[in-house]
Amino acid sequence: MEVLQRILPADSVGDVLEVGSGPGQHCAAFARGFPLLRWQPSEVDERFVPSIRHHAAGLNTVLEAVVINAASSTWPVDVPANRFLAVVCINVTHISPWATTKGLVVGAGRALQRGGHLIIYGPFKINGAFKTESNERFDTSLRAQDPEWGYRDAADVVALCVASDLHLAEPYIEMPANNHVLHFIKH
Ligand SMILES: C[S@@+](CC[C@H](N)C(=O)[O-])C[C@H]1O[C@@H](n2cnc3c(N)ncnc32)[C@H](O)[C@@H]1O
Repeated sequence: MEVLQRILPADSVGDVLEVGSGPGQHCAAFARGFPLLRWQPSEVDERFVPSIRHHAAGLNTVLEAVVINAASSTWPVDVPANRFLAVVCINVTHISPWATTKGLVVGAGRALQRGGHLIIYGPFKINGAFKTESNERFDTSLRAQDPEWGYRDAADVVALCVASDLHLAEPYIEMPANNHVLHFIKH
């Protein structure tokens, strides 16, 4: 919330898309912190929709969740081009194949307004290295569950973003428990 409050000033008006909302508690918490923004949760797995709805109960700035598979080359028509002030994605890039991160970036490049923000939170490798041994163990356990999962190198995400005209807005933001926020702006 603190990071978002710095990136998105309190008087910002517009729509924010969350990709991979999961149970939906982040979207609901952010909606409480940003009453002027409208939040669009989304998930690839529609079984999360009732939970997202539950967390958003009573919040009229949270829209009904839509199904978005970030890995697909085209997101659905209810996510029109150049609409969103920000796209937020939390804890998805390491628990999904690289194709999901690729699709997230291409889709965000399309869905964001010029000057809009792509905000990706999660654990990353930095310059090819794990921050700690426990991070490396976690990465190994993820790859054991699915060989296509695992920590992404932040630099690879940055390179991907450039191709979608999304440019790193500031140094990687250090977060608790060795996580980072990668903040991009659409030029
Ligand atoms: C670890 S959970 C994080 C959920 C939520 N953002 C949170 O932090 O609580 C990862 C989520 O990514 C979603 N996910 C995986 N692949 C996806 C894809 N291709 N498109 C959209 N969401 C995806 C999963 O369904 C799951 O809900």
